[in-house]
Amino acid sequence: MKVLLIGSGGREHSLAWKIAQSPQLTQLYTLPGNPGTAVVGINVEANPENLQSVVEQARKLNIDLVVIGPEGPLAAGLGDVLREAGVAVYGPSQKAAQLESSKAFAKDFMLRHDIPTAKYQAFTDFESALSYIRQFAFDEGTIPVIKASGLAAGKGVILPETTQEAEIALKKIMIEKSFGKAGSEVIIEERLVGPEVSILAFTDGKTIVPMPPAQDHKRLLDGDLGPNTGGMGVFSPSPIAPPEFVDWVVKHVLQPTIDGLRAESMAFIGTIYAGLILTENGPKNLEFNCRFGDPETQVILPLLDSDILEIFLACAQARLADVSKSIRWKDSAAVCVVLASKNYPNSSTMGHAISGLENLPEGVVPFHAGTASQNGSLVTNGGRVLGISSTGSTLSVARGLAYQAVGKVKFEGMQYRQDIAKGIS
Ligand code: AMP
Ligand code: GLY
Repeated sequence: MKVLLIGSGGREHSLAWKIAQSPQLTQLYTLPGNPGTAVVGINVEANPENLQSVVEQARKLNIDLVVIGPEGPLAAGLGDVLREAGVAVYGPSQKAAQLESSKAFAKDFMLRHDIPTAKYQAFTDFESALSYIRQFAFDEGTIPVIKASGLAAGKGVILPETTQEAEIALKKIMIEKSFGKAGSEVIIEERLVGPEVSILAFTDGKTIVPMPPAQDHKRLLDGDLGPNTGGMGVFSPSPIAPPEFVDWVVKHVLQPTIDGLRAESMAFIGTIYAGLILTENGPKNLEFNCRFGDPETQVILPLLDSDILEIFLACAQARLADVSKSIRWKDSAAVCVVLASKNYPNSSTMGHAISGLENLPEGVVPFHAGTASQNGSLVTNGGRVLGISSTGSTLSVARGLAYQAVGKVKFEGMQYRQDIAKGIS
């Protein structure tokens, strides 16, 4: 099989690494890829959001399957144009991708299909939103969460501590348009309290196969302090999400979602991702993503003990039920520690030399995210630079290995959390 993978982050390097292990693979191309994907395949220079150029590349390279990593091209309709061109795709249609690209769509959908989520209202008018915040604070005695409805690279969610902060956030989103069009509509919702866990699943639009639960660390600093980021580290499996919990999520969140989309003529092929918070009143679904998580993928795929191309192709051909019973996961644990540039998430750096990636302990894979090749040397090229992933018999063994490897890697301004998977067993 000739496979074209779309994207260039740590998620895509881990996808490329796993796809490259498939006995069915003849050639992997990554568009545009990064220095990590270049080791296991060929990078193709093109803009993944220029849909026609991706279709042309898929035709020219005789691609059998396209795997779409990031949300941007999915929300732009890349899945649709490829399918119209007769190419098999692992990734949902533009309509189904609205589960992630429009929080207003996702919330309405959850309400329609009885999926447990936080209480909310959607607004396109600033004054009405403002009075709802004040009324909410008065009635409930708590400050609501403010979210830009559209895609905002993980930055569109604001958790204010005071009504004044909430009003400032609303103004920034709706009047000053700090997230552009993504903020033309806002969601104002109840603030929930509890630990968070991500459940991802393969689906062909009918059958669902959940992956091991993962726990992301979204805040920049140890102890869950500092600003929200794209994710500073992650581990899997998660002790707060035993198999009964995963069954519950499939039954109450994922299956009704996939069935509801199908009933509304938006069959979902790809990875569906539910981001849940475990509250005192039971689990609630905070958000959907219509793709693999980053960095969740960097711990989930090292635990997969089956051929990923067989799964992707079965999903693309709507026959996941045929292979679902043969999908195996390793009875081990995985930890990923993200190494970020100085000043991330506010800015990123470019051109600082990266050293120490050779001779890492066995069981460790350094996944590239914001790296580049410059005159034959590896340098930084982004906010999240690398994800050091490791597997071990337990979380504590995997954690020990990951941090042992982190200690060897160096670049100027490197920052990382010391407490990924700390105290978890
Ligand atoms: P989202 O993109 O909607 O998942 O939001 C990003 C992050 O913001 C989540 O992972 C949570 O940590 C936090 N968050 C979002 N919505 C809520 C909420 N209603 N209550 C508490 N925290 C939230
Ligand atoms: N790690 C969170 C995400 O991929 O959206």
